[in-house]
Amino acid sequence: MIFETHAHYDDEAFNEDREQLLAGMQQNGIEYIINVGASLESTKNTIELMKKYPFVYGALGVHPSDTAQLNEENFKWLKDQYALEKAVAVGEIGLDYYWDEPDRDIQKKWFRRQLQLAREVKLPVVIHSRDAAKDTLDIMKEEKAEEIGGEIHCFSYGKDMAREFLNMDFYFGIGGVVTFQNGKKLKEVVEYLPMDKILLETDSPYLAPVPFRGKRNSSLNLPYVAEEIARIKGISKEEVIEITSQNAKRLFGM
Ligand code: NI
Repeated sequence: MIFETHAHYDDEAFNEDREQLLAGMQQNGIEYIINVGASLESTKNTIELMKKYPFVYGALGVHPSDTAQLNEENFKWLKDQYALEKAVAVGEIGLDYYWDEPDRDIQKKWFRRQLQLAREVKLPVVIHSRDAAKDTLDIMKEEKAEEIGGEIHCFSYGKDMAREFLNMDFYFGIGGVVTFQNGKKLKEVVEYLPMDKILLETDSPYLAPVPFRGKRNSSLNLPYVAEEIARIKGISKEEVIEITSQNAKRLFGM
């Protein structure tokens, strides 16, 4: 069965039918879902989803674009949440120079602090990095991220960067973009990556694969992603689903 490693079911895009949608996941082949916190608010909502649904686990953390909300007091609160049994990662954390807010110094500071936090609570990290390859890599090297472990979610760089992250033994979240006509760069990266470093993810409600591009995404669309990876790798869709599921269980200690 499919292991969905990155979704945001706390997003308001699911307000109308969240319960119904999640209730149908397992019978539609989705075994586990990691809901990913992107702010303190969505981390709280992720914890609610973890408590409500046995198959929903959580990555707890603050996305670079929301790091201006962090201070010592709420950072302490965040740290305490990893005591929850179903908190399996620190994320999503990182750098986003596409939106480029807040100031890069603030983003860098809290990326570093959350990497250190992951080391302390002994959990892998889920990294968001957009238009910020060099700084992401520099900070990861300085913080010895290879000892922490984790994945680069929604990987958007080329093969050279993929090699750098592979050298740190990181995993790669692959989603709907790999099905896009203009997703050539990612298709090349997937061809290059060893199968045992690939994870399936959607980033729902965003980045729906072809043929649903532009629509609201959900984990139910992951077979389209698996199919494209299978085509690139010359293996079956079932193998892609099985291997990526084992990869996720290994990374998140499940
Ligand atoms: Ni995300």
